[in-house]
Amino acid sequence: MAQGTYFTRAGVFSFLILRCVAFCGGPKVRTVFEFPFKTWVENIAVRANGNLLVTLIDHPELHMINPFCPGDGTMVSAFPDALGLLGIAEFQPDQFAVVVGNWSDVTFTTTPHSYSIWQVDMRPFRAVGSEVILPAVVEKVVDIPEAVFLNGLTTLNRDDQTILVADSGLGVVWRVNIATRNYEVILQDATMEPTPPYNLGINGIHIRDQYLYYTNSGLQLFARMPINPNGTRAGDADVLVTNHLGDDFTFDRRGNAYVTQDPGNDLYQVTPEGNVSTVLGGPDSPLIEGDTAAQFGRTPFDCHILYITTNGGLVNPVNGSAVGGKIIAFNTDCQ
Ligand SMILES: *[C@@H]1O[C@H](CO)[C@@H](O)[C@H](O)[C@H]1NC(C)=O
Ligand SMILES: *[C@@H]1O[C@H](CO)[C@@H](O)[C@H](O)[C@H]1NC(C)=O
Ligand SMILES: *[C@@H]1O[C@H](CO)[C@@H](O)[C@H](O)[C@H]1NC(C)=O
Ligand SMILES: *[C@@H]1O[C@H](CO)[C@@H](O)[C@H](O)[C@H]1NC(C)=O
Repeated sequence: MAQGTYFTRAGVFSFLILRCVAFCGGPKVRTVFEFPFKTWVENIAVRANGNLLVTLIDHPELHMINPFCPGDGTMVSAFPDALGLLGIAEFQPDQFAVVVGNWSDVTFTTTPHSYSIWQVDMRPFRAVGSEVILPAVVEKVVDIPEAVFLNGLTTLNRDDQTILVADSGLGVVWRVNIATRNYEVILQDATMEPTPPYNLGINGIHIRDQYLYYTNSGLQLFARMPINPNGTRAGDADVLVTNHLGDDFTFDRRGNAYVTQDPGNDLYQVTPEGNVSTVLGGPDSPLIEGDTAAQFGRTPFDCHILYITTNGGLVNPVNGSAVGGKIIAFNTDCQ
């Protein structure tokens, strides 16, 4: 049983969370928010109050979307001297670490030496509709000039404020301590390496039960590696899925992984037993065209809703027509 405090536009209320109020009511799939055409929504983190934070890779911007109020979006912050944002994760309550750097959606290439990690403190942030009343505190943590293409990001240890960051260009995982600003390569493996033509290796990363799970886009695999609490390797990599494109992913409470497929257009599920199936979309489906990342809601009202970000099919448009990047809500209780 956990104590929850929810901030809404109407005010503040607190209550006890007894269980997830999961039910198959309403539509199986709905659009929460659609950005203008040529907006590539790249990654997503969910605040404890239910608001969604999404990064754009083709604009250096972080946006907040209220999933309970369709069309309600606010730009939290723009970031200087960069083309875009990539991975995002909460490393302390309502404080988020973000990858900022230059990957070009025009040339499909990365600019080595352009990447940095930033922190965004959402605690003071207040907005009404799209208008910011009190800003978030946004600060650069550290430049990582040795990095080639920083991409997925996940929290390793909240107590000492360490995160792991995938480098898709070098095929390694960096450990970054946000408090001390120290960083180092902590993991390297053949299953993480980039391959031609896009030189895109390890991409999405998340930790579950002492394993680092990851996709490798070029090698088209989903794998896991046992790690120590400090992020170092504790065993050999185990490839769970092959011949599937993979971008970012998340897990439900039962341990099923949901893997997005940009530039594919489907979402596949991997059960704890290792069974793989498509649960939403498909190569010719516009439902989640260009799906890039996914996270579950965090309130009792949407903990069964998987929020999926998309780039609208900019890389591989369904029937040749791309749309604006979206946030799609998928009710996983309706499967
Ligand atoms: C990254 O892109 C920004 C915006 O175009 C530019 O100002 C900056 O110099 C670039 N950084 C590098 C290292 O090329
Ligand atoms: C990480 O933890 C392992 C296992 O506890 C230990 O052997 C290793 O020395 C630690 N390495 C670093 C770099 O902290
Ligand atoms: C997993 O796949 C195997 C082989 O296709 C099948 O026999 C089994 O029933 C599946 N298990 C579940 C839990 O779906
Ligand atoms: C794509 O085009 C084909 C052939 O014109 C059509 O049958 C199909 O409905 C279209 N699909 C979508 C998602 O628009």
